[in-house]
Amino acid sequence: MTKIIDGKEFAQKIRNQVKEDSDNLFKNKQVQPCLAVVLVGENPASKVYVGAKTKMAAECNIKTKDFKMEDTTDQATLLKVIEELNNDSGVHGILVQLPLPKQIDERAVIDAIDVKKDVDGFHAINAGRLSIGGEMLKQAFIPCTPLGSLLLLKDTVPNLSGMNAVVIGRSNIVGKPMSQLLIEESCTVTIVHSRTKDIEAICSKADIIVAAVGRPEMIKSNWIKDDAVIIDVGINRIPSKKPDGSEGTKLVGDVDYNDVFEKSSAITPVPGGVGPMTIACLLRNTVTSAYRHAGLGDPRGTVDSESHDQYKDKYINH
Ligand code: GUN
Repeated sequence: MTKIIDGKEFAQKIRNQVKEDSDNLFKNKQVQPCLAVVLVGENPASKVYVGAKTKMAAECNIKTKDFKMEDTTDQATLLKVIEELNNDSGVHGILVQLPLPKQIDERAVIDAIDVKKDVDGFHAINAGRLSIGGEMLKQAFIPCTPLGSLLLLKDTVPNLSGMNAVVIGRSNIVGKPMSQLLIEESCTVTIVHSRTKDIEAICSKADIIVAAVGRPEMIKSNWIKDDAVIIDVGINRIPSKKPDGSEGTKLVGDVDYNDVFEKSSAITPVPGGVGPMTIACLLRNTVTSAYRHAGLGDPRGTVDSESHDQYKDKYINH
């Protein structure tokens, strides 16, 4: 029987605890965690994500400050906003939604964010800490989508040591940090990408596949081995007929879910898998940052589950 990995339910548990931690911080220190969200331009997917982040932050009693900037904004203007947010003691987390318009150097902007407020975990120093691993990891903010993916994976396979994991995609947002988290779990990790020769042959040896390429339903059942665990990070909108026969759209992952389902031992659906975990982990990172800024130790772990206890010290109770 294939297990459907329920990211929606898991993310709700995380958010419940984030709210509790946020409320306790307010009770004890009169501090309300605050996340600044900067959106430049009109990318429709980015607008949807930013809207969802703001709504869920409110449900966790996390304040948000939204900065919506024109598509034509220049880099100096954006850097000035970031400097102001860095200097604002009421702001604990800064998120600049990616991608940015082409006139802006993304790396320069990300590295201008105060490392201690970099709740996305994209700053070069946070990326470096993750790469070094061990004790360094405890000071880092871990990128939210890979962290959410790992939490789901660990809930399904508590001991990942020695497993063959293939990460499909080499982005700084998902592929690279995901591979480093899996190395930290003592997996044998292979990253494959658009230039990899014979991707199918490599994937077919994997105990775990993490797909983060942004290509709808690319991974088919003949790519995977029997009983592989599949984490599908892709969120792709494709044309689809509505029940009444008219034209509509639907969300699909990078994995052909129906094709792969029987052959896998566990799989994340799209929607309802990794997606909700990203925002939950962002809110967790924001509350952790607020505790640190208040001079407190990090709040307790994310979820009270036995398997989670083994790794929450490492990834959550930084
Ligand atoms: N664009 C796609 N995913 C992300 C994310 O996790 N954080 C930010 N800032 N931008 C993104």
